[in-house]
Amino acid sequence: MNIVVKTQHFGKADQNTLVIGVFTDKKKNAIISKALKPFTEEIHALSKNKVFSGEKESTYFLRNFDGQNILFFGLGEAKSAETEVLRCAGAKVYTSLVAEKISDIAVSVDSFYTANGSKGAAFDAYVQAFAEGLLLSTYKFDKYKSDVKPSPELEVTFLQEDQTTPTKRAVDIAKACADAVFIARNLSNEPGSTIYPATLAKESERLAQKYDVRCKVLDVPAIKKEKMGGLIGVGQGSTHTPRFIILEYKPTKAKRDAKKVAFVGKAITFDSGGISLKPGASMDEMKHDMSGGANMIAAVLLAAKLKCPNPVSAYIAAAENMPSGTAIVPSAVLHTRSGKTIEVLNTDAEGRLVLSDALDYAQDAKPDYIIDAATLTGAVVVALGSICSAIMGNDQEMMDQYLSAAEKTGEKHWQLPLYKEYTDDMKGSKIADLRNIGSDRSAGSSKAGAFLQEFVKEGSSWMHIDCAGSAWNQRHLPYAGVGASGHGVRTLAEFACSV
Ligand code: BES
Ligand code: ZN
Ligand code: ZN
Repeated sequence: MNIVVKTQHFGKADQNTLVIGVFTDKKKNAIISKALKPFTEEIHALSKNKVFSGEKESTYFLRNFDGQNILFFGLGEAKSAETEVLRCAGAKVYTSLVAEKISDIAVSVDSFYTANGSKGAAFDAYVQAFAEGLLLSTYKFDKYKSDVKPSPELEVTFLQEDQTTPTKRAVDIAKACADAVFIARNLSNEPGSTIYPATLAKESERLAQKYDVRCKVLDVPAIKKEKMGGLIGVGQGSTHTPRFIILEYKPTKAKRDAKKVAFVGKAITFDSGGISLKPGASMDEMKHDMSGGANMIAAVLLAAKLKCPNPVSAYIAAAENMPSGTAIVPSAVLHTRSGKTIEVLNTDAEGRLVLSDALDYAQDAKPDYIIDAATLTGAVVVALGSICSAIMGNDQEMMDQYLSAAEKTGEKHWQLPLYKEYTDDMKGSKIADLRNIGSDRSAGSSKAGAFLQEFVKEGSSWMHIDCAGSAWNQRHLPYAGVGASGHGVRTLAEFACSV
């Protein structure tokens, strides 16, 4: 999809389909009225007959109205229109256009103006969100299908009567966001047969070069030299050996009070459970167990693309968790880089083992903020489903900043507690400093978070994101669907840019 922005009177558009947003309270607004003027009668009739009245997520397609097609899309009540309404509207519009086999559209962005001057979200945020909705909906992962017909390119023109510079910038940001989300989705959707630690590292190097970001990869001897016993332990059952991937973005002109942001990601390229083998049903989904890492890679690239004023690094612990004669066994004790020892009571609780080393390593550079993301626990899926990610951490102000970044991107997050009692439970090993599972199945996500906190040094501001639910199957979103979602990528970059 190609989106261009032009200054032009909407009435003069010559594209074959005109696309217009309609709020339910449209009559109050002079600018909207202007954009909709030629269609006032039509809209009235539709509304009177209860066919279309501007309700959220609704669309109405008029074929060949005075020689052109018109697609109306609803935005609901102007005063409660969050950017997410525009993002979903973009997706709904895309679906209608595909269904109607339309290839060339003009969008009246002036129709996004609300009566009270875009209260709730700024006008450019509306444009960006709508463009994101359109772009994110175009995603497909069909490279392994032999008989797919390439879908026709949709030519999109955003028309605005006045100043278009902010609109152009909003569209550019939306494009950057969609590209980054697609990188995360592609990495995660790749099967376990093609993405394993070495290929993930190669792909990271390729992407880093493309985005002008530094990339360094530690192989097994280097990981051993770093004494990363957690990462080595998890990876030792597989012939696909582990890698530790480091991406570094530095702004060309860093501001004086720039904040160092560190992202840490779990990238288990396939999680079979190891010797504590998972049941067969849905085990294939565990190709996505590297989504946390994939999201972090994409987030650094996005921050770089957006010329983030803060330096941002990503530390990705990549391993394949397999059962074999060389695999770790339940009862194994691992020596982590931090010096702490862990008794492995279940080899399927492997994410926290690799993250213990990655968190420790990431803190060497003394970041101001450190965020890890991981498809860490099945418990978070039970608690929250695929709607949102869980967050937890040791700095409430930081988490509040993160939640307000998420407010802008529409990506849902929900905070879980990290009570001392959870930590005490994880410290319950009879022979080591920590054990990798709790005494029972209760509070699995918080206990996993409490475990990770043991590798966060005094004074570090840290937050953990459990994306086991949100990383794929976000079927409730019109712009995501089955497969990997890339949920979190946009918020991570937004946080890094705004902190
Ligand atoms: N990768 C899984 C978590 C997971 C489960 C992600 C379902 C997405 C969907 C993780 O490594 C794991 O297996 N965790 C165990 C921990 C338990 C043994 C304490 C779990 O959640 O069952
Ligand atoms: Zn596991
Ligand atoms: Zn896992």
